[in-house]
Amino acid sequence: MINDWQKNQEKQDSDKQSLLTSHGILPKHIAIIMDGNGRWAIERNLPRAAGHQQGIESVRDIVKASSQLGIGYLTVYAFSMENWKRPHMEISILMSLLKQYLINEIDELDANNVRLCAIGKLNALPKPVQKILSKAIERTAKNTGLTLTLALSYSGRWDIIRAVQMIALDARRGNLSPEDINEELFSTYLLTSHMPEPDLLIRTSGEMRLSNYLLWESAYSEIYITNLLWPDFRRTDLYDALENYMNRERRYGMTSQQMNIENTKASQSQDSYLQRILSTFSPKS
Ligand code: IPE
Ligand code: IPE
Ligand code: MG
Repeated sequence: MINDWQKNQEKQDSDKQSLLTSHGILPKHIAIIMDGNGRWAIERNLPRAAGHQQGIESVRDIVKASSQLGIGYLTVYAFSMENWKRPHMEISILMSLLKQYLINEIDELDANNVRLCAIGKLNALPKPVQKILSKAIERTAKNTGLTLTLALSYSGRWDIIRAVQMIALDARRGNLSPEDINEELFSTYLLTSHMPEPDLLIRTSGEMRLSNYLLWESAYSEIYITNLLWPDFRRTDLYDALENYMNRERRYGMTSQQMNIENTKASQSQDSYLQRILSTFSPKS
C-alpha cells in the first residue's frame, strides 16, 4: 500500500502546517545544502556511510513535508562536482545510496504527484545510476505537484560556463546577437531554467558558505543556516526555517518604506482582482 501524504498526516502536524500557511507567503522554491552527514556519524563512532544513510531519512521527511505544504520547488544538493575528489569508497557508497533511494522511493513520489528532476553533469554519474535516474525523471515528468530537483555532480560555476558556451554557439550560428544577452535570456540557458529562483536557501551543519551551489540563482535568496547536522534536520526544523523566512523583509535593494508601498499596491491589486471576480458571481440588482 502506497502512502498518501495528504491523507496519512498527523493532526498535530497538519495543524502546524495550516498555521504556517496562514501566517504569510511561503517560499515557492526552497534550496537546501544537505551538509553534516559525516560529522553526524563520527559523533556516534560510526562510519561516514551511516551518516549518509541516515541523511536519506531526512530527505524523505523534508520532501514529504514540502509537498504537504504545497511548496512548488525543492532543490537539494546531494553531490557536488567537487565531491568527486572524495575517497573512492565514499563515492561508491554515495552512488549506491542514491540508486537505492530512487528505486525505493519512486513509487511513493509518483503516487504523491512529485515531479523528479536533476541538475548537474549527469553523464559523469555511473551508468546504472544514470539509467535509473532518467527512468524516474521520465516516469514523473507529467506530475504537477512538488518539483523535486536533485543536484548531482553539480557545480554552479560549471553551469554558468556551460550557459556561456551555449550562448556563444547560438551567437555564432546567428540565432542571437550579443545585444540580446541580458539576465533574463542568460537564465534560460541554465539547467535551472525550469524553476523560479530559490526564495529560501537552507544550509545545515553551520558552515557559512555556498560551496558552489546555485551561484547565479541565489543572488536574492534568503539564507538560513542551522547548526543541526543534516541527518538531524526534520520537518519541525523546516517549519522553524519557514517561520524565520516569513518574518524577514525582502528588500531587493530598496528601502523599507518603498517595500511597504510595493506591498500595499500588490495587496490592493489583489483585492480589486478579487472584487472583480466576486462581482461576476453576485446577483445583479
Ligand atoms: C553532506 O555531508 C553529504 C555530501 C556532501 C555528499 P558530508 O559528507 O559533507 O558531511 P560532513 O560535512 O563531512 O560532516
Ligand atoms: C556541499 O557540502 C555539497 C553537498 C552538500 C552535496 P560539502 O561538504 O562538500 O562542502 P564543503 O567542502 O564543506 O564546502
Ligand atoms: Mg560537508
